[in-house]
Amino acid sequence: MNHQLLHGRHVLVTGVVTRDSIASAVAIQARQLGAEVILSAPARDQAAAAAVADELELPLLALDVNADADWAALDDHIGARWGRLDAAVHAVAFAPRPLLDGSMVDAYDADGLALAFSTSAASYVRLAQLLARHAPADGGSLVGLDFDAARAWPTYNWMGVCKAALEAASRYVARDLGPRGIRSNLVAAGPIATRAAGAIPGFHHLLDSWAVQAPIPWDPTDAAPVADAVCFLLSPMARAITGEILHVDGGHHAMAAPVRELPVEVAPLDVAPVASAPAPAVPVPALA
Ligand SMILES: NC(=O)c1ccc[n+]([C@@H]2O[C@H](COP(=O)([O-])OP(=O)(O)OC[C@H]3O[C@@H](n4cnc5c(N)ncnc54)[C@H](O)[C@@H]3O)[C@@H](O)[C@H]2O)c1
Repeated sequence: MNHQLLHGRHVLVTGVVTRDSIASAVAIQARQLGAEVILSAPARDQAAAAAVADELELPLLALDVNADADWAALDDHIGARWGRLDAAVHAVAFAPRPLLDGSMVDAYDADGLALAFSTSAASYVRLAQLLARHAPADGGSLVGLDFDAARAWPTYNWMGVCKAALEAASRYVARDLGPRGIRSNLVAAGPIATRAAGAIPGFHHLLDSWAVQAPIPWDPTDAAPVADAVCFLLSPMARAITGEILHVDGGHHAMAAPVRELPVEVAPLDVAPVASAPAPAVPVPALA
């Protein structure tokens, strides 16, 4: 008997763009646990993602979550190559920068909001559709990456609203697909220094908060604890868990106030954005 948690499971991992992507850590750990992994990235990030895929020796497919043609091609590929899909990881988020900066009340842009919602929340349901089409009779597991949307942050703004939508979407997916044995869960991660994090104005406020309020010291350069939790939720060990939000944040969410002083010499973290082609132009294609 093989005791690897994900032995023989076919897992699609979206959202890879750099080696620091949370999705990269998930792919590494899932493979380590015995899974067969396929990565995906949108066309504008294919070059950067291909470097990661080459390094990890994993196949990479094109998926812009707002492109119907990409979903259709992915659907065909999974059917032809694997015949079944056991699990999928949603690690995708995007919002135009003005929606993340300054006063949220002053930053209202209908087209930008539609793009942010479609990319960061509605796409989770589309991934659920794909999984439902290809999952075996004994079910499957969908896991998304969340940033705790129960509270307002000093930054994050409309992406916080998108994450609240993602949390709600995950619960409805859990409701609809649970009877088929397909589970839906989120991991609410603490701040990790990725390209997406580099695009969040004032990300250092979050790092400062974690430095004082997480009872378990938090390392924003290490996505492995987040990846481990994702793999747990993908695995049969979590077979009775659905509609859940698992916080992997060093315990930050459970503390009402700081539990230590901010160290005087907190070094600034380099979270400079990685170059990529510009975001797709709005309007956003309607979801099928
Ligand atoms: N970094 C953090 O601090 C943190 C904390 C909690 C949750 N998260 C979440 O983790 C997930 C992964 O982000 P990350 O921090 O690893 O950053 P990242 O920049 O490495 O990954 C974001 C991914 O989103 C993809 N993406 C953007 N628009 C897309 C589109 N239209 N179609 C398909 N893919 C698209 C990018 O290609 C990229 O691979 C996101 O949902 C993010 O909100 C991040």
